[in-house]
Amino acid sequence: MNKVLVIYSSKTGFTRKYAKWICEALDADILEYNDRERVNYAHYDTIIFGGGIYAGKINNIKWFREKLSDFKDKKCVLFVSGAMPKKSPDVMKNIKKNFKPGEWGKFKVFYMQGGLDYDHMEEMDRIMLTGFRYALKISKKDERMANMIAKSFDFATQKDIVPLVEYCLK
Ligand SMILES: Cc1cc2nc3c(=O)[nH]c(=O)nc-3n(C[C@H](O)[C@H](O)[C@H](O)COP(=O)(O)O)c2cc1C
Repeated sequence: MNKVLVIYSSKTGFTRKYAKWICEALDADILEYNDRERVNYAHYDTIIFGGGIYAGKINNIKWFREKLSDFKDKKCVLFVSGAMPKKSPDVMKNIKKNFKPGEWGKFKVFYMQGGLDYDHMEEMDRIMLTGFRYALKISKKDERMANMIAKSFDFATQKDIVPLVEYCLK
């Protein structure tokens, strides 16, 4: 039997929401990143790690990168949630920048659009995002994006887990 573990790191809840949907679909165990020492990874055949992306950096990705050698006999999967639309050509480019060339290819990657939640954001994140929005506005480079990130939104949808779930069931 393929035993699956989903471990996630989520600041405002979007990655958590996806992690829960994935867990239900795969009948997997679920673990919050802060509990990562509390589990015996030897019990699992598939490890799925999920994190939100912040200024191009995936939350707690260092842990996943360092674990890749321990998990070399397992199916490794990464899912990333971000505000960018799925179709944006920068999405995979930005995710790839989180890895060294030798690491990329040792796991399968899926991107799922999350959203923004100003009510649950850390103060520093809110300040950073506001700065980014004003920079976009002033430069007039991407007014659509500037308007999109001006307020909270939630584009997370359960159907976005389907490619990951199908891959894990293969
Ligand atoms: C300060 C800040 C920086 C962000 N940077 C990015 C980014 O570079 N790319 C992106 O797609 N989304 C970005 N986002 C949006 C988050 O990735 C998005 O809210 C994600 O779904 C959060 O997941 P979480 O709530 O599970 O942490 C950023 C959000 C904040 C607050």
